Amino acid sequence: MVSLMKVAVIEGDGVGHEVIPPAVDVLKAAGLNFEIVPVEVGYGKWERTGRAMDESDLDVMRDCDCILFGAITTPSDPNYQSVLLRIRRELDLYANVRPFRSLNIPVDTPYVARQPFDFIIVRENTEGLYGGKEEIGEDRATSIRTITRKGSERIARIACKIAQERKNRLTIVHKANVLRSCSFFREVCIKVAQEHDIPFDEGLVDSMAYNLILFPHKYDVLVTTNLFGDILSDLSAALVGSLGLCPSANIGDKYALFEPVHGSAPDIAGRDVANPLAAILSARLMLEWAGEQEKAGLVQQAVDHVLEMGIKTADLGGHASTKEVSDAVVGYIANVRR
Ligand code: NAI
Ligand code: MG
Repeated sequence: MVSLMKVAVIEGDGVGHEVIPPAVDVLKAAGLNFEIVPVEVGYGKWERTGRAMDESDLDVMRDCDCILFGAITTPSDPNYQSVLLRIRRELDLYANVRPFRSLNIPVDTPYVARQPFDFIIVRENTEGLYGGKEEIGEDRATSIRTITRKGSERIARIACKIAQERKNRLTIVHKANVLRSCSFFREVCIKVAQEHDIPFDEGLVDSMAYNLILFPHKYDVLVTTNLFGDILSDLSAALVGSLGLCPSANIGDKYALFEPVHGSAPDIAGRDVANPLAAILSARLMLEWAGEQEKAGLVQQAVDHVLEMGIKTADLGGHASTKEVSDAVVGYIANVRR
């Protein structure tokens, strides 16, 4: 564990400005010894300066231990390069780890799963269809999907490690019946699972989408490629009840970035109605990554308590503002530590 952790804090755009400050407050309330290094990147910066991120911003991030990231608005301009994809690639944050757990409180959301569930999607984060190898011509466009042995081995290893900690089963998700690059991914994952002595099964991504909705309680750790993991994560967020509840970790060997699964939500930005819990739970994942298990547990306890008290934002059918939910979480933590 590092003594004084340096955390690059990127609010980004839209609701990022509203949900990241509470996440920082939660880290402070939990007693983390850390230095905040604010970094401005994103659409707002692009509009102002013509660049969404500078090389020097990346250097600042490289000088930190980890990053707390809000969300960034992506314009449809084809010249705009995704900031987040670039950070993930430059810092080699190859594992996107997304835990999804059902709430144990009644929520007024469009869909509620019938049985409690608790699973983690481990998504390869640097290659596949998001690898950036693309060509666009007058009459055709091509995106190349590269899956490497190194990329598949390391993501499978992280997934096996998580499955081991949870003493449970790994599900390898692919489309090996159609895509040869998926057969390759599947074979590498099976080999790694066997080496780690992890029980595993597998599923085709389309039937996984179906099964996750009907039987989410049957799954524990899912490992999959970049695009499939992206899509299944949003589906899983709907199972939980709101994107506003889903945190994620982007992990590499050297750095890590923690961010809510949701985007900049321009439809609700600036109105103090965004759910801050996805960002707060991302801070919780940061604490876990930093080896601060006790502080992480306290943050989870605070979130559970606030939800049980019915202090909920509109996405969960509640009436509380971003600030009210944030203050309640911070207040609970401060109270327990007093
Ligand atoms: P989004 O995740 O921003 O919003 C989808 C829906 O969920 C909206 O109805 C929004 O109001 C709701 N929502 C999102 N976060 C919420 C929260 N904390 N509390 C309550 N409700 C919440 O996805 P969308 O609309 O597709 O994208 C908006 C912008 O964000 C786009 O420019 C997109 O490119 C970008 N984006 C950025 C991401 C990132 O930086 N990691 C991830 C996804 C999208
Ligand atoms: Mg996504």
